Amino acid sequence: MLQERIPDLAKFVEPDRVRKEVYTDPQIFELEMARIHEKYWLYCGHESQVPKAGDYTTVQVGRQPMLMVRGKDKKVHVLYNRCPHRGNMMCGDRHGNTGEFFRCSYHAWTFQHDGGLRSIPMMESGYAGTRYGKDNPDCSMKKAARVENYRGFVFASLAQDGPTLKEFLGESKIAFDDMCDRAPGGEVEVVPNCFRVIQHSNWKIFLENQLDALHPSVVHQSTGRAAHEVEKDIAKRTGKAPLSYHMLSAFATVTIDKWDNFQTLNYPHGHCILTGYMGLRPKDPDTLAYEKVMHKAYGKERTEEILGVNIHHVLIYPGLSVQSPLQQLRAVRPLGVDKTLTEIWHFRLKGAPEPIYRRSLAYYNLVNSPSTMINADDLENFWKCHQGLASNGGDWVSFGRFHGRDLEKPGGMVETGPNMGTSEAPMRNQMKAWAQFMGGSR
Ligand code: FES
Ligand SMILES: [Fe+2]
Repeated sequence: MLQERIPDLAKFVEPDRVRKEVYTDPQIFELEMARIHEKYWLYCGHESQVPKAGDYTTVQVGRQPMLMVRGKDKKVHVLYNRCPHRGNMMCGDRHGNTGEFFRCSYHAWTFQHDGGLRSIPMMESGYAGTRYGKDNPDCSMKKAARVENYRGFVFASLAQDGPTLKEFLGESKIAFDDMCDRAPGGEVEVVPNCFRVIQHSNWKIFLENQLDALHPSVVHQSTGRAAHEVEKDIAKRTGKAPLSYHMLSAFATVTIDKWDNFQTLNYPHGHCILTGYMGLRPKDPDTLAYEKVMHKAYGKERTEEILGVNIHHVLIYPGLSVQSPLQQLRAVRPLGVDKTLTEIWHFRLKGAPEPIYRRSLAYYNLVNSPSTMINADDLENFWKCHQGLASNGGDWVSFGRFHGRDLEKPGGMVETGPNMGTSEAPMRNQMKAWAQFMGGSR
């Protein structure tokens, strides 16, 4: 029956609601991997994860185990993590240095960093007169069809054709510009390593939550309130509470009506920006010292432009959620229809004073890490959503909040109306892209 339904995927998505099978059907999941994750640009990692020749890190792209490696030529390559001989995985470790070349642990075929065959033990005697050898591309490790880098962030597409990375990212590339421009040195550097969390829910539930401005003051209220109580107490005793308390207390003090003041900008390909930031440009000595360094690097006018960028969150469909003002990034790696890995990374601003890094680290630990209540609050809802969707209690997921009141702008951008920051426009936008991608249109 599903075979009959699948060709008509359009029926699963309406402008303001989506069928539950989109989240729970294993065959739809397989199609999503083939038509979206193994086709469009997926984030592999930051080039600073592989600084030296031979450095590699493994990464899941759709259903494909891949590796990102730095070559002797300084180029970053993305290869399938598979030996062409008998299919052995080339690198079993999550990351490391492979030395001068890759050497398969099974029969010692060796490969250059770009995947090209280097040697086969006793190649002449064993393979003379056969189809196997250096001239046969099937004897080399297979490369990702396309690899591109934007400001140090490496993406791969497993399809030969399609938009370039820049075309695909469109306006969402501001996530990387905003993050890198905030560095006096103009670039960021990854902080090894990341947190990895496996969620027992569909990958789209996580992405939809990222720009769901309605949920924080509900889901995170208890965490925010507790932090606010402590914050007030410390302020009373010492005159001033550390900024890190504000990162948590904002979940209680920024109420739903305030979230409505923010705005979402929804772009083609499912990308989306949530504007309005919690106000982390205080006038404390650390910030002022940082601004001085920025003035030196960029001049006053440009510094104001950079620090004035008003972004809370950028969602880069279908696998990335970036909080650029605090140098955080979460990569979403679907593992199954009800199983999703997220990698939670943070970055250092090159050339910025240490306290600015400490601020990013505090946010990383307090808001995004698996040990914070904020993350636990969300994870519980993701799991419960998936459980409910897998039941026969209803057929649809509703995305109707402020439906019909979005503002269409040139270039296919859709803006939420004034005072409608909690609109479900980002979810509608993601599902619109999903339907286009699944239907094979770009
Ligand atoms: S499987 Fe890799 S050399 Fe045999
Ligand atoms: Fe949340």
